[in-house]
Amino acid sequence: MRSYGTNGRRVAIVAGVRTPFARAGTVLKNLSAIELGRACVAEVIQRSELAGKDVDALVFGTVVPNVVAPNIAREVSLIPLLPKGVEAESVSRACASANQAITDAADQIVLGHRDVVIAGGAESLSNVPILHSRSMSDKLVALSRAKSLGQRLGIIASLRPRDFVPITPAIAEPSTGESMGQSAEKMAKINHIPREEQDQFALRSHRLAAVGLDDGRLAAELAPVWVPPSYEQSLGTDNGVRRDTDIAQMAALKPVFDRRYGSVTAGNSSPLTDGASAVLLMSDEKAKALGYTPLAYIRSYAYAALDPGEQLLMGPVLAAPVALDRAGLALADIDLIEMHEAFAAQVLCNIKGLASREWAERAGFAKPVGEVDRARLNVMGGSISIGHPFGATGGRILTTLVNELKRRGGQFGLMTVCAAGGMGHAMVVERA
Ligand SMILES: CC(C)(COP(=O)(O)OP(=O)(O)OC[C@H]1O[C@@H](n2cnc3c(N)ncnc32)[C@H](O)[C@@H]1OP(=O)(O)O)[C@@H](O)C(=O)NCCC(=O)NCCS
Repeated sequence: MRSYGTNGRRVAIVAGVRTPFARAGTVLKNLSAIELGRACVAEVIQRSELAGKDVDALVFGTVVPNVVAPNIAREVSLIPLLPKGVEAESVSRACASANQAITDAADQIVLGHRDVVIAGGAESLSNVPILHSRSMSDKLVALSRAKSLGQRLGIIASLRPRDFVPITPAIAEPSTGESMGQSAEKMAKINHIPREEQDQFALRSHRLAAVGLDDGRLAAELAPVWVPPSYEQSLGTDNGVRRDTDIAQMAALKPVFDRRYGSVTAGNSSPLTDGASAVLLMSDEKAKALGYTPLAYIRSYAYAALDPGEQLLMGPVLAAPVALDRAGLALADIDLIEMHEAFAAQVLCNIKGLASREWAERAGFAKPVGEVDRARLNVMGGSISIGHPFGATGGRILTTLVNELKRRGGQFGLMTVCAAGGMGHAMVVERA
């Protein structure tokens, strides 16, 4: 068995848990990302019967941080189950933030600095900060510094209606102004992905996720969440999976990002979502010393980036060949593939890219990665149906990949995630 380090230390994936994912503004809207993160970190510790004292560190990702508690990892780590001496750091790499948390944790294990790390991510898109305009911020700062009643009244009198117009964060590239949806739309056109194909792929996502929830495979990865303020209601399943949809309903939806000529709709996009995920990683020796049987090991990973103004969500096409090369494997060796579904258009463009010589050459390889076998791809749905709490998705995908790989008796798994900024991530895991 190969590891990506040079000292022979291998990173074992011991367990993974996530909260149910909920469409933003619904059942989980009163929980912050910190609370969602705490719920699933507590659950992963309890399910794996781990002693808190054995945890060395916690690494957590989030995309839209809480401005008053920017180090989400530290806030999450301050749960009663963990000693206060467990150190914690937060990371951000857009939709690959949980992946960044996982690979940072894994690197520390490979280096020998840590043995047991909980890594994951959380996002509450129901609770994005609403900002004041520059002018309002200046006036509020001046107000807080005013030394007399007269100064205060003067500042208050200077307030204008436009000062009260809030600024909400957009899911758009700061460098180009293009939103994710517009990028997916552009990519669908460049790569000739028809609307019908996108809708079929999204429908497949809903159908497969429903099967996975109903037969217990996905349900087993969920930690039900009790909902404040009364804690009388709980969420035990993903509420974005549409069991009642069909291709006719999906075809009737209007395109959102190019109303006239577009093909990307609410139906074939991932929805804005709340949720968290956590994965328990250990050095192989420590896992064995503590009596755990690892689900799988991290064999390799890679990150890549391209110009965000080009085809924003093609990063996985550049990262996957590098991760496979580092693993010493070909696509044909891979038993299961988990691709983050930001948009059906993006997945279908990524699949085309992986089969293309041009993209292979851009990634530095003579031969394309190859044709993705759909029977091995996202076999229990993906972000379109399950949802996509940005900072948490990587933990969900890794957990599902290793659990399903084990069930099927497979050996190798590949996961890919596209991310804002034109970035992509890929990881290869291996069962012992
Ligand atoms: C696409 C997007 C704008 C849609 O937002 P929205 O309009 O709030 O979406 P909704 O869930 O309300 O869906 C709109 C309508 O389509 C319907 N719909 C959505 N999916 C459907 C499906 N599969 N079948 C049938 N109807 C569906 C909804 O029921 C709703 O109908 P209504 O208006 O009658 O209530 C939003 O989900 C989005 O921005 N997604 C992309 C997020 C993103 O960029 N992520 C980053 C990726 S890395």
